[in-house]
Amino acid sequence: MNYKIGVIGALGAVGQELIKLIEERNFPCETLLPLASARSAGTSVTFRGSQISTQEATEDTFKEIDLAFFCTSNAVARDLIPKAKNKDCIIIDNSAAFRQDPEVPLIIPEINASALDEAPQLIANPNCSTAIALMGLYPLHQQFGLTRFIASTYQAVSGNGVAGINELSTQINAWQKDEPAQPKIYPHPIAFNLIPQVDSFLESGYTKEEHKMLEESRKILELPELHVSTTCVRVPTMRAHAIAINAEFQKPINLSEAQAALKEFSGIDYYDTQATPPYPMPLNQTQNIHCGIGRLRKDTALDNGLAFWVVGDQLWKGAALNALQIAETLHSKQQILK
Ligand SMILES: NC(=O)c1ccc[n+]([C@@H]2O[C@H](COP(=O)([O-])OP(=O)(O)OC[C@H]3O[C@@H](n4cnc5c(N)ncnc54)[C@H](OP(=O)(O)O)[C@@H]3O)[C@@H](O)[C@H]2O)c1
Repeated sequence: MNYKIGVIGALGAVGQELIKLIEERNFPCETLLPLASARSAGTSVTFRGSQISTQEATEDTFKEIDLAFFCTSNAVARDLIPKAKNKDCIIIDNSAAFRQDPEVPLIIPEINASALDEAPQLIANPNCSTAIALMGLYPLHQQFGLTRFIASTYQAVSGNGVAGINELSTQINAWQKDEPAQPKIYPHPIAFNLIPQVDSFLESGYTKEEHKMLEESRKILELPELHVSTTCVRVPTMRAHAIAINAEFQKPINLSEAQAALKEFSGIDYYDTQATPPYPMPLNQTQNIHCGIGRLRKDTALDNGLAFWVVGDQLWKGAALNALQIAETLHSKQQILK
């Protein structure tokens, strides 16, 4: 079976990676329809050696599509997804617009692919930091029973898409010319700085990004009482998010069993102290389909606790790759064409 695939937001950071991955992973695609905003329509993307011109996404466009990947803002997803739903296509959404809708499964295929069994029309892809954190936490949860985790994130600028990449590049160039940094999308200069704010603040003092990690972890792991506290920090790396995690479990920890659980889990590269390098870093996890986990140790401040460091390419496992893995799962279950 070969599908007519629409990528909405095809010129954005996630959309571009998704088109590359559809080609590289040989996903069965008969026709690719790259869709853009009205202002960018006409710009081409390269797919299987050909240039394909982007079109504006309208309700009628979805008539021609079997599978739609949304790689746009929440606002655009909220506007266009109901229109795509009317046209019967299967939709995988990278935005946060429908992630907390109880009717919409929120999927990391290695963890909860069974939530696709009811053949949903709309599937949400998780927040990038949540996806990467849970790739490390889930195998440990299966072994020991997760009760709480505390996470500090180090999030790359491509997490804000093309605009984030441009902002860091521009500020590094300005710094080399001894010119002042001009923040546009971030509240402060990002080059040579750390900004302990990802998204806007809520009344609780946490940011929306931090709140997403709480809500989405509970939904994906089906642990509604899970305790989660996170601090999300934007850092001047281009790509791949890193997260330091301290987690507490119901059962006593055996370090060898924890290592074995991580090594056996699909989608992870486990780094021990003998590895070179002995831990994952953003540069060596960029464009890696696996998340890297290292620095595993017993946590000295928690009962039954483990501390570890996980790094994943958030444009891939946090967005485009995970979305495509969802599509691959639907394809294997023959759920795309009815
Ligand atoms: N970047 C990440 O690491 C990451 C990770 C997980 C989830 N996400 C989510 O994925 C989504 C896309 O993120 P991104 O980083 O790729 O952002 P991005 O680089 O800003 O790309 C968004 C794209 O959407 C296009 N667009 C705007 N209005 C449109 C419309 N009406 N129809 C079709 N396309 C339209 C934009 O085109 P114009 O430039 O012409 O406006 C732009 O090319 C967001 O919801 C984001 O939160 C991103």
